[in-house]
Amino acid sequence: MTGAPILAVVSPKGGNGKTTVCANLAASMARYSDPVVIDLDVHFGDVEYAFRLDPLYRLDDAVRLMAEGGDEDISHVLTRHPTGVSALCAPSDPVAADRLDADEVNRVVDYFIGLGRPVLLDTAGGISEFTLAAMDRATDYVIVCGTDVPSVQAARKLIDTMSRLGMDLTRIHLVINRSTSRSGLTPEYVEQAVGLRASLAVPEHMSLTAGMNQGCPVTESDPRSAIGQTFDRFVRTLIEVPESDTLAERLRKLLP
Ligand SMILES: Nc1ncnc2c1ncn2[C@@H]1O[C@H](COP(=O)(O)OP(=O)(O)OP(=O)(O)O)[C@@H](O)[C@H]1O
Ligand SMILES: [Mg+2]
Repeated sequence: MTGAPILAVVSPKGGNGKTTVCANLAASMARYSDPVVIDLDVHFGDVEYAFRLDPLYRLDDAVRLMAEGGDEDISHVLTRHPTGVSALCAPSDPVAADRLDADEVNRVVDYFIGLGRPVLLDTAGGISEFTLAAMDRATDYVIVCGTDVPSVQAARKLIDTMSRLGMDLTRIHLVINRSTSRSGLTPEYVEQAVGLRASLAVPEHMSLTAGMNQGCPVTESDPRSAIGQTFDRFVRTLIEVPESDTLAERLRKLLP
């Protein structure tokens, strides 16, 4: 693909694993690039927990600084994680989030898209105006679907709606989360019901739960694990991977 991807990580249902998938994709991508994650789950965003961040600035600060400073550089609002992922976290106060103006948030998102780095937009469940704006800007739609009937039906309805809106369905990447759940539907059933082949099947695994609770995505703590390699393969389909990924290059990325 040409140009840095802009991924909207969406799911019609909450709690399906959007942030888990988003954080693991970002940490995996950071091995090759310098991704920016923007938390558009504005009221109750959880990107900061996925990376255990302590942000100095957040989305509401970015909106304010942009309004005050016009075209000034606001890159310093990003919180950098040792992986190389930079994050713009959601407001800490849901009341502050409620006051956010969607157009102003969009200006901030557009600013970071304009930097030419890969951008991952984590979203809240459903299709809020922030999620729709994220999808409007995305080059790729990562639809996270669980293995339960409500998730599958909601994903199917979302894709149907996207079709009616004239969106490019070839840019959808279906991610089946908890694909190995014993009580869940099989990945084959999910694919058939949703009408798409999965780009990524993420097993149910305690390392993913622990990663979220400890603020350390599996793709960071154990990139060579089966889960780490699964994410890596998917990421390699999304971004241009440099010819050689030498240890010297990786060492350079660790420098501040
Ligand atoms: N494949 C998995 N295996 C084990 N635990 C998982 C898996 N995917 C997600 N989880 C856990 O499920 C919980 C919900 O996941 P997550 O926060 O990523 O969902 P979400 O879609 O972002 O939720 P919300 O809509 O509230 O933002 C988290 O505690 C996470 O660690
Ligand atoms: Mg989330």
